[in-house]
Amino acid sequence: MKTEKYYLKEIEQKDIQNIFSGLSDPEITQFYDVHFPTLEATQEQMDWYQNLKTTGTGIWWGIYGKDDQKFRGACGFNGLEKEHCKAEIGMWLLKEFWGQGILKEVMPKVFDLGFGELGLNRIEGYVVTDNRKCKSALEKVNFKYEGTMRECEIKDGKKISVDIYSILKKDIIG
Ligand SMILES: CC(C)(COP(=O)(O)OP(=O)(O)OC[C@H]1O[C@@H](n2cnc3c(N)ncnc32)[C@H](O)[C@@H]1OP(=O)(O)O)[C@@H](O)C(=O)NCCC(=O)NCCS
Repeated sequence: MKTEKYYLKEIEQKDIQNIFSGLSDPEITQFYDVHFPTLEATQEQMDWYQNLKTTGTGIWWGIYGKDDQKFRGACGFNGLEKEHCKAEIGMWLLKEFWGQGILKEVMPKVFDLGFGELGLNRIEGYVVTDNRKCKSALEKVNFKYEGTMRECEIKDGKKISVDIYSILKKDIIG
């Protein structure tokens, strides 16, 4: 899958160093319920990607620059429910690549695959209410805010609210 400046390649076991470089960064995992401080610990995430594939419940890709083949971040689908033609979307970028419009450029391609090959009708995003960067990025690619699950999680003793965003096939193809 290619865009003007980037290409996406399915995540494999040999990408563990790239995944570690992202998910060991507390600024990237700030709003996540996962954080992997060591390369060894990151194997759990690699098993999660593999399990999505073997169970047919999702797929994640690495994002690379066409000019330098350098890893930029990752994005993908999980929680895919075939009977309801829906899946949850996720994305993270290495900090050095924030503020460059990568999500804005890559997401439409991911939508095409989701609404096309994967046969989705609905793509959902669950975003911690305080994650402004993510919410502004999602709104820029036409995700619709649907509501807030107030104080639906407790993390480190803190009550966390989560916003629900979605985009439907008809939002894209009209
Ligand atoms: C969520 C996340 C991927 C958003 O990254 P981002 O760089 O802010 O989003 P985009 O790639 O769409 O870039 C948009 C920004 O690039 C800027 N930009 C620069 N060049 C641009 C271009 N050519 N086109 C569009 N935007 C451009 C925009 O002004 C905008 O900056 P702003 O956020 O200061 O307004 C990033 O913050 C992240 O990895 N967070 C940690 C993981 C996480 O919380 N993920 C949650 C799921 S979304």
